[in-house]
Amino acid sequence: MALLQSKTILIADDDQMSRKLAEFVLKKDGYNVLSVESGEACIDYLKNRSGVDLVLLDIEMPQLNGIETLEMIRADKSIAHTKVFFLTANEFSKYEEPSKRLGVLDFISKPMFGPEIQERIKAVFANDTAAKDTVLVIDDDRMNLKFAEHMLSPTYNVVTALSYKDALDYLSKELPSLVLLDLHMPGMNGFELLAEIRKIRNCHDLPVIFLTADSDRETEIRVFREGALDYIQKPFVPEVVLERIKRILTLRKLQTSLESEVERRTAELEESRRKLEILSLQVVKTLASAIDAKDRYTNGHSSRVAKYSKEISLRAGKPIEFQDEIYFVALLHDIGKIGIPDHILNKNSKLTDDEYETIKQHPSIGVEILKNITEMPNIEIGAHYHHERFDGKGYPEGLAGYEIPEVARIIAVADAYDAMTSRRSYRAALPQNVVRDEIVKGKGLQFDPDFADIMLTMIDEDPRYEMRDDGQAL
Ligand SMILES: [Fe+2]
Repeated sequence: MALLQSKTILIADDDQMSRKLAEFVLKKDGYNVLSVESGEACIDYLKNRSGVDLVLLDIEMPQLNGIETLEMIRADKSIAHTKVFFLTANEFSKYEEPSKRLGVLDFISKPMFGPEIQERIKAVFANDTAAKDTVLVIDDDRMNLKFAEHMLSPTYNVVTALSYKDALDYLSKELPSLVLLDLHMPGMNGFELLAEIRKIRNCHDLPVIFLTADSDRETEIRVFREGALDYIQKPFVPEVVLERIKRILTLRKLQTSLESEVERRTAELEESRRKLEILSLQVVKTLASAIDAKDRYTNGHSSRVAKYSKEISLRAGKPIEFQDEIYFVALLHDIGKIGIPDHILNKNSKLTDDEYETIKQHPSIGVEILKNITEMPNIEIGAHYHHERFDGKGYPEGLAGYEIPEVARIIAVADAYDAMTSRRSYRAALPQNVVRDEIVKGKGLQFDPDFADIMLTMIDEDPRYEMRDDGQAL
């Protein structure tokens, strides 16, 4: 595999056997391993070459011992940040104080070098990797890759790919923060490779910077046209490369944090909206209960009519918003009954003509009560027109056919079904076949024929007569 995700470990130990053992184990784990045999050589190496990610530093060395070596490392600004594990054949506890003072990350007990230690080393780099952005550098020239890695690794996790195949393979599994892409490569040029990268899931907007030795205008124009964010001229000027990468990653992070802020605010608004919706439904249901409480023989009527109206709407192919709205509308269709005296509503014997005229006022009273609810005009419409008849002989306005608003035509069928299927002060619930016959007789006269047909289907699908008054409506 030509992908090199290299972490470099420097071993400083005067004991050759220890060095060889550590080298053997760490190389097998894929690290670049270097070793020196003294504290002086360790400092010299760190000062003259960058890119060492961790030093395993033996404490017991002749001349400069590990503690003295680390004191000198910490005193030199250019290498003071170096991560260090101490190696020792002695008891750790002897070195606790200087280790704390000098910021040693961990101890390794010599000559042990087993899986547990490998895990501890891995953990150091796992933290590193989590905090840093990853830059994928794709170039067929090993020297360029080495140079890019050397330049970028102090700031970024660097992954390098020598061919388009390696690059695509990596991108199909991992998502780096940014890609540096060589324009001229064998097999697939940079533009072609970019097109392939864009097809990979999550890579459609991955920031890409082209690397090119070309300086003609056509190339420059094409770079941007093909969707790269920038291009860098070879040979690189390290400061320019670092600045450009930094600028793009900063912009990307701002964009991402803006997007997540928008998402967060949207979720908050959605939650508030949902709460308001629940509150509205609870208020409306409470009102519906108040209406039903007025008439002891029709308890639960409003919620049952709401349920039937919603079901008719669903079967009529109405959108979910309509179904939800008609549920609200139907809950309040009889709100005007609040204004009708109890003794008339609850009368056990036949109503006089005057009493019947009083009852017939409830749609108009409902309009008065609901007129201020402007956000959902159908609420008022449902209360106003649910006693209109398709043949024009209803009340209060005597509208006919499709002059009657649709929500009212639906509620009218649901209302009639519930009136017939629930017990009244003067009679028991009617048998289902009688209810069915009444709906058939009312088709096109009392009821919109289409909605009456839907109700007939609902009745026919309910052979055990269970749809009515199931006690679950509210
Ligand atoms: Fe009514």
